[in-house]
Amino acid sequence: MTGEQTEQTEQTEQADLVGRTRPGSEAARSNETRHAAVLLGGPSAEHDVSVVSGWAIADALAGAGLTVERVYIDLLDGWWSMPADAAKGRPKPGVFDDPAAVGGTGPRTPAAALQELAARSPQPILFPALHGPFGEDGTIQALFEAYQLPYAGAGVAASAVGMDKALFKRLVGGMGMPVVEWEEVTAARWSQDRAGVLDEIEASCRRVGEVRVMVKPARLGSSVGLTIAHTPGERGAALDEAFRYDTLAVVERYLEHPRELEVAVVGNDPDALEAFGPGEIMPGREFYDYVAKYSDGVSEFTASADIPEALGRQVREIALDAYRAVGCEGFARLDFLYSGGKLYLSEINTIPGFTPLSLFPLMAATGHGSFGSVCLKIVDLAEQRHTGRVRRRLTPADLPR
Ligand SMILES: Nc1ncnc2c1ncn2[C@@H]1O[C@H](COP(=O)(O)OP(=O)(O)O)[C@@H](O)[C@H]1O
Ligand SMILES: [Mg+2]
Repeated sequence: MTGEQTEQTEQTEQADLVGRTRPGSEAARSNETRHAAVLLGGPSAEHDVSVVSGWAIADALAGAGLTVERVYIDLLDGWWSMPADAAKGRPKPGVFDDPAAVGGTGPRTPAAALQELAARSPQPILFPALHGPFGEDGTIQALFEAYQLPYAGAGVAASAVGMDKALFKRLVGGMGMPVVEWEEVTAARWSQDRAGVLDEIEASCRRVGEVRVMVKPARLGSSVGLTIAHTPGERGAALDEAFRYDTLAVVERYLEHPRELEVAVVGNDPDALEAFGPGEIMPGREFYDYVAKYSDGVSEFTASADIPEALGRQVREIALDAYRAVGCEGFARLDFLYSGGKLYLSEINTIPGFTPLSLFPLMAATGHGSFGSVCLKIVDLAEQRHTGRVRRRLTPADLPR
């Protein structure tokens, strides 16, 4: 499927979003008392993708009969309540740049907005359709915890580990899962000892027999700040670029023409998880960079990769192991690179792209039926986790005095 099909499929998209639940049906009536608040936008470079993901999720949940609030977070952390008619279908980039102009109410501070959401009865289930720092790295999840609000997806620790490519590799690599050879460089060390760092990278390149390296900021997404250093001479500039975004960089062995396989995992209970896929991305560029990810028609993808059954099984098994290893809940997308006949676990995305044409919902829909059913399942899982939480208010008598 290509991005070019975006416009043509708009019609079917709308039908699919609602899935099998129709307004007035029994299922829709039973959802009427359920409230959800979808958070979209946010202060990261993936703001515009998040708006498309969040709006589609909100439309789907509303279509299933839930009472849905749309909370737009602007680039300066202002929280706005948006009317459902602020955009139709797939919001164009920038339509919420002036939220008041399209009927938004706000801005409120995060604290004021969360306090008001927490005081409601019933409390809405929060669905953060936010990518990258703040929305996907445990920050907003910690705020939800502080206000004791139910929310969809990974908790604080899993979000933080999932966002950090270095921590993630240390964890799953340490557990024996296949990860590509990598090194970590801090900005402090880089500023003090460029020659020493470059010597170490050169030594590892010789060890693995590959001159090219992939340099990444440790805690970002959407390929922002990622550079392939094709020659030793390009390594310094690649590190400088990564340090524009983070104080920790990851330097990986470059994999030759990898196939990019992705798995959708859904569930809370580590013993009762579902894995869908692998799907495959075919980037139309040297690697799956920002342009390949977000320009219509550049890359192609399929929810079902054409690979041997045994490899598919292995990919799903490692995806489940990694999901369990970080203690993920709700849902996530696990990404793999397959190169030279070897499989490498690349990363976990705890809030993967969630537009109607994104791979995560397409893969999960192969088991759950439709985009809307996938959204509902994730809300169900959020509710279940919240209900199952061990919460105990202490009194002075409980303290070990
Ligand atoms: N070691 C590598 N060798 C070759 N290509 C890579 C390597 N690491 C990443 N890539 C390419 O860069 C893309 C983005 O890398 P990734 O680690 O997934 O960062 P992000 O979190 O920004 O998506 C991958 O989808 C792949 O195309
Ligand atoms: Mg990626």
